[in-house]
Amino acid sequence: MATDYIVKDISLADFGRKELDIAETEMPGLMALREEFGESKPLAGARIVGSLHMTIQTACLIETLVALGADVRWASCNIFSTQDHAAAAIAASGVPVFAIKGQSLEEHWDYLDKSFLFPEGPNMILDDGGDATLYVLLGAKAEAGEDLGVATSEEEEAIHAQIKKRMAESPGWFTKTREAIMGVSEETTTGVHRLYDLHKKGELPFPAINVNDSVTKSKFDNKYGCKESLVDGIRRATDTMMAGKVAVVCGYGDVGKGSAASLAGAGARVKVTEADPICALQAAMDGFEVVLLEESLDADIFITTTGNKDVIRIEHMREMKDMAIVGNIGHFDNEIQVASLKNHKWTNIKEQVDMIEMPNGNRLILLSEGRLLNLGNATGHPSFVMSASFTNQVLAQIELFTKGEQYNNEVYILPKHLDEKVAALHLAKVGAKLSKLTPEQAAYIGVTPEGPFKPEHYRY
Ligand code: NAI
Repeated sequence: MATDYIVKDISLADFGRKELDIAETEMPGLMALREEFGESKPLAGARIVGSLHMTIQTACLIETLVALGADVRWASCNIFSTQDHAAAAIAASGVPVFAIKGQSLEEHWDYLDKSFLFPEGPNMILDDGGDATLYVLLGAKAEAGEDLGVATSEEEEAIHAQIKKRMAESPGWFTKTREAIMGVSEETTTGVHRLYDLHKKGELPFPAINVNDSVTKSKFDNKYGCKESLVDGIRRATDTMMAGKVAVVCGYGDVGKGSAASLAGAGARVKVTEADPICALQAAMDGFEVVLLEESLDADIFITTTGNKDVIRIEHMREMKDMAIVGNIGHFDNEIQVASLKNHKWTNIKEQVDMIEMPNGNRLILLSEGRLLNLGNATGHPSFVMSASFTNQVLAQIELFTKGEQYNNEVYILPKHLDEKVAALHLAKVGAKLSKLTPEQAAYIGVTPEGPFKPEHYRY
């Protein structure tokens, strides 16, 4: 179907294709998979629903899945993260994609719904943050007679409305779709939390691969990716001078570590808040002052990286200085209590940048309405680091699609030899040469010369 897509402007496809061509030169892992599996097509017969930021890097992922034989339909997992030229290039290539930068919440769920509408129905999910999985499971619960409950946010209102619409149009659709799904591969920390939670409650109806916790994902994308893309987002949004400013980073997990390094690298004086003593100690020993947010409200820049909710609250924002910059790089927008600012005076400066007047007259600059700012205000992580993440995604899809029967309805991590393979595929691009262990050396440290090189409990 020639028009089976919703993009902002299909004439951006040529520009998208040029950037895609460049991205391919920076995504050696994905290109190696095309080489290795392009002929055998292990994903032939897979009908994959993708719910992941529709960027140039994701376009390269999509084209890899297609090269391996999959049918793919795609939506973005965030209303601000789409790169319209990337979406246009994918639509022009014939892959159905439903994503526009700045789409509404209603459109977000409508587009996600559309990404499920394969003529024969989908059989795989590739998720980022868990929205695609949530949509099917919540819908199936509603079909089983469970009350969706009262929506407590605009987000929930929008998903409930979309579920009711689909139930009215196609009775039994959610249950049928849930039963057809052979597995899900999940990209990010927040989505992975949701999967483990489902499993704990006995509600995970298919096997899942936690891509986030491949070492070559969370210790690279979350860390080195944010190291590049956080300051990029703040600069594109505000053009503010970073050097000399005081920045508070809430959370010092993988994303927090990258974010603090990003700000410090730009010359900001960085403070960190943490709830976990291990991460707090890491922050201190990396040279950052570990503080309480309440006692550091005179800073210039505040960034949340926790994946938690209500981290920067209204009482904090009331105390901030005039023109403080507030943003989030965690997956969902509830890290900052944006809803509590709704009755304040908002002045839109440009797309995804708002100035908000507080009762005391001070103004705050809020980035991407509290949604992840590296994708809302900039273009997310660079291709090279996303190549590592997405190589894990493709391997996870192959694993679940071709060997699904070997998996239970649990959450798995890819085996270490595949993690090491992903890393190995990225070495040549950065000119790294790998030392070869002699058989004697390998035996001495208890490994084989071909790897795996570390025991499962090693933490990197
Ligand atoms: P993580 O679990 O490694 O780190 C989160 C840290 O926040 C933990 O150390 C935790 O102790 C701390 N924390 C939790 N509540 C806190 C509070 N109230 N105050 C201070 N610290 C608190 O998780 P990770 O991998 O760093 O991911 C964080 C978020 O970023 C997730 O939502 C994830 O999905 C998202 N993410 C975003 C990316 C992006 O490009 N924007 C890339 C990768 C992940």
